Amino acid sequence: MMGGLSVLVKNLSRSYRRAERTIEVLRGLSTSLPPGSFTVLTGPSGAGKSTLLHLLGTLDRPTQGEILYDGRSLQGASDREMAAFRNARIGFIFQFHHLLPEFTALENVLMPTWIAGREEDASRARRLLGEVGLEHRLGHKPSELSGGEQQRVAVARALIMQPALLLADEPTGNLDSHTSLEVFTLLRDLSERQAMTCLVATHNEVLARMAHRHLAMDDGEIVSETVS
Ligand SMILES: Nc1ncnc2c1ncn2[C@@H]1O[C@H](COP(=O)(O)OP(=O)(O)OP(=O)(O)O)[C@@H](O)[C@H]1O
Ligand SMILES: [Mg+2]
Repeated sequence: MMGGLSVLVKNLSRSYRRAERTIEVLRGLSTSLPPGSFTVLTGPSGAGKSTLLHLLGTLDRPTQGEILYDGRSLQGASDREMAAFRNARIGFIFQFHHLLPEFTALENVLMPTWIAGREEDASRARRLLGEVGLEHRLGHKPSELSGGEQQRVAVARALIMQPALLLADEPTGNLDSHTSLEVFTLLRDLSERQAMTCLVATHNEVLARMAHRHLAMDDGEIVSETVS
């Protein structure tokens, strides 16, 4: 049984140069995600949550500082090495599901395995869709699903490669409060059952209070870290 990825963030900075000015978005941020932990990330718009998630997901590189995954740094890794690490270990869920409209729920869930050139495992994809409560919607296209159902397909798709780290950026930002609660609880339960490390950015304070760990960001820094 895999225990999820251990993530250590050390003195992480990310700045952007715009014309004459340098904008510091992350300012020497340090934190950690214990293996198998479920953490919520909150903070006002512009605080740097998405920037941090992109860096954690190896979609972007820090200006300074580093991230250790199970003690290993990707500093100096090539883009290709970063992509290989990302595809094998990290799952993403975004505010908008980004499902492919021409494909069914089942096909969308299988898509990452096709892209990775892995042998297709349709029974695993069906089981995952069952776990998110969509066993009766396998052949539906995204336009034939509700918003909550679409987001649950995106959850199943994020899990098909068995990621050790799941990063979700406002996964319920587009859903009503009831459906938000459903999708969030699903993520939390799956993270527990599959012992994967999970970080969820959200503006929803009700959901934030339901997590074991809560990181709050403001202006590029972690301003509080609570464990309940
Ligand atoms: N490519 C870029 N160039 C310049 N500034 C950027 C760039 N990307 C992000 N920023 C700035 O970085 C800051 C943090 O953005 P980020 O998207 O991480 O915030 P956030 O906490 O996710 O906000 P929200 O809750 O609105 O999603 C913002 O002020 C944004 O304008
Ligand atoms: Mg954001």
